[in-house]
Amino acid sequence: MSDKLGTPGLPLKVAIVGSGPSGFYAAEALLKSGLAVEISMLERLPVPFGLVRSGVAPDHARLKQVIEVYTRIAEMPGYSYQGNVRVGEDITVEELCQGYHAVLLACGAEADKSLGIEGEGLPGSYTATEFVGWYNGHPDYRAHEFDLSHERAVIIGQGNVAADVARILAKTPAELSHTDIAEHALEALRASRIKEIFVVGRRGPAQAKFTSKELKEFGELEHCDPAIDPAELSLNPASAAEIADPGNAGARKVVEIFSGFSTRAQRAVPRRVVFTFLKSPARITGNGRVEKIVLERNALSGPAMNQSARGTGQFIDLEAGLLFRSIGYRGVPMPGLPFDQRSGTIPNRDGRVLANDRELPQIYVAGWIKRGPTGIIGTNRADSVATVASLVADLPKLSAAGRKSGFASIQDQLQRRNTRPVSFADWKSIDAAEIARGAKSGKPREKFTDVREMLALLA
Ligand SMILES: Cc1cc2nc3c(=O)[nH]c(=O)nc-3n(C[C@H](O)[C@H](O)[C@H](O)COP(=O)(O)OP(=O)(O)OC[C@H]3O[C@@H](n4cnc5c(N)ncnc54)[C@H](O)[C@@H]3O)c2cc1C
Ligand SMILES: NC(=O)c1ccc[n+]([C@@H]2O[C@H](COP(=O)([O-])OP(=O)(O)OC[C@H]3O[C@@H](n4cnc5c(N)ncnc54)[C@H](OP(=O)(O)O)[C@@H]3O)[C@@H](O)[C@H]2O)c1
Repeated sequence: MSDKLGTPGLPLKVAIVGSGPSGFYAAEALLKSGLAVEISMLERLPVPFGLVRSGVAPDHARLKQVIEVYTRIAEMPGYSYQGNVRVGEDITVEELCQGYHAVLLACGAEADKSLGIEGEGLPGSYTATEFVGWYNGHPDYRAHEFDLSHERAVIIGQGNVAADVARILAKTPAELSHTDIAEHALEALRASRIKEIFVVGRRGPAQAKFTSKELKEFGELEHCDPAIDPAELSLNPASAAEIADPGNAGARKVVEIFSGFSTRAQRAVPRRVVFTFLKSPARITGNGRVEKIVLERNALSGPAMNQSARGTGQFIDLEAGLLFRSIGYRGVPMPGLPFDQRSGTIPNRDGRVLANDRELPQIYVAGWIKRGPTGIIGTNRADSVATVASLVADLPKLSAAGRKSGFASIQDQLQRRNTRPVSFADWKSIDAAEIARGAKSGKPREKFTDVREMLALLA
């Protein structure tokens, strides 16, 4: 009698693309499913952990402890890490489908939404993605330069990424020097002349997307005060109804914190973060670089919990030398697979990838590439568990392919294409070297920011 797929005689072979939270939670769900499973986790960088390493702010070290959970998953039998392999370039999804029973894409949302306004591309106008990648030592952004010689910076967007960007600009070098912030960023921030950081929301205070914990931190900075014009906190009836809703306690708390900020005495400190609402950037102007942001005043319309911002035709000018667009991330198409341009995700039903509304056999998605760029690290756990449930339910269909050779089937191709896969043991060597480099300056680690440097260390 032939072996059943998912038994020791015929293990289920799955390629997971991406080593962020959704990739690791998918691996965990598969490894704990009770099936015999062999997983190859393919990651385009030599180093794992996605946005936990390159997104989470350096001064939020506690949140990075989740890496210990992922390390325990990586040590489970059946798991193997293959870093420095970019799917879609070093190996195609089609080739993975030949070597594995299933391919689960957990490749996140690495691009950003655009404002689509005049002047967006002027020097001095940056995306939060670039700035975050730069201060976190992501190899793609190490060579970026941010001109911090101006006194006023403007951030468009009021989500937690905007809060991270504002806080990093607001903190003193002393407040950051014992974090894992990239040394090149710390050096540039030491010379920063920024005094004022405007954080601009297109809707009102009740619709800001900050979580209260992150917002509260602006009241605890050493050399920076939060500031809000109290007049900006008056709520229209629908917004008042929103924060009175028992299910919307988070927004109520956020408005209370704003309210506290608006009445607190300003200290004689060198920096301030100004929160302002109901304004959208209409255009960015300047002679060869950002000099002014033209903001249009908005009014809210629509029912409570579903209000949108509409321009009023009134404009105000805000002089600034720096602009950060923090209006959300966006997925990147994977060669050979369908892509929904509107949402920036791979179309799917319950994690099964769809082409023209028909399920593509063998291909699954999880995390930000599946549902869009929302949710905290933990949100990805349930999301990945749901995708793995779909995959496991499809086992009878997947078993038709019979035996698959897994990583062995792609090893030769990778070698021919001069790709040197990095194992989890290799990552541990990089990790140890980063920790040793950091110890010299009292930091938890000093990241390698150049892929060549990482590979040279392993050679
Ligand atoms: C700036 C920022 C800060 C955040 N801070 C927090 C926080 O403090 N707390 C919190 O709970 N949540 C935070 N989040 C949210 C959290 O990071 C996300 O929910 C989570 O990382 C999404 O997981 P993911 O696995 O879908 O994507 P990612 O974490 O982005 O992982 C995707 C992985 O896929 C890899 N990849 C991409 N393309 C390919 C390819 N073609 N081939 C191989 N590999 C590929 C990438 O290199 C990456 O490692 C933050 C998000 C951002 C943007
Ligand atoms: N510490 C943490 O836990 C942490 C840290 C960072 C990120 N994260 C999580 O990661 C996810 C992504 O965060 P994010 O901040 O990138 O996204 P986000 O929470 O969706 O916030 C995006 C912000 O941009 C605004 N915006 C969107 N399009 C705009 C436009 N065209 N013009 C002006 N403003 C626009 C949104 O306003 P509207 O509301 O009007 O759309 C919103 O204020 C979130 O779930 C977040 O909580 C968590």
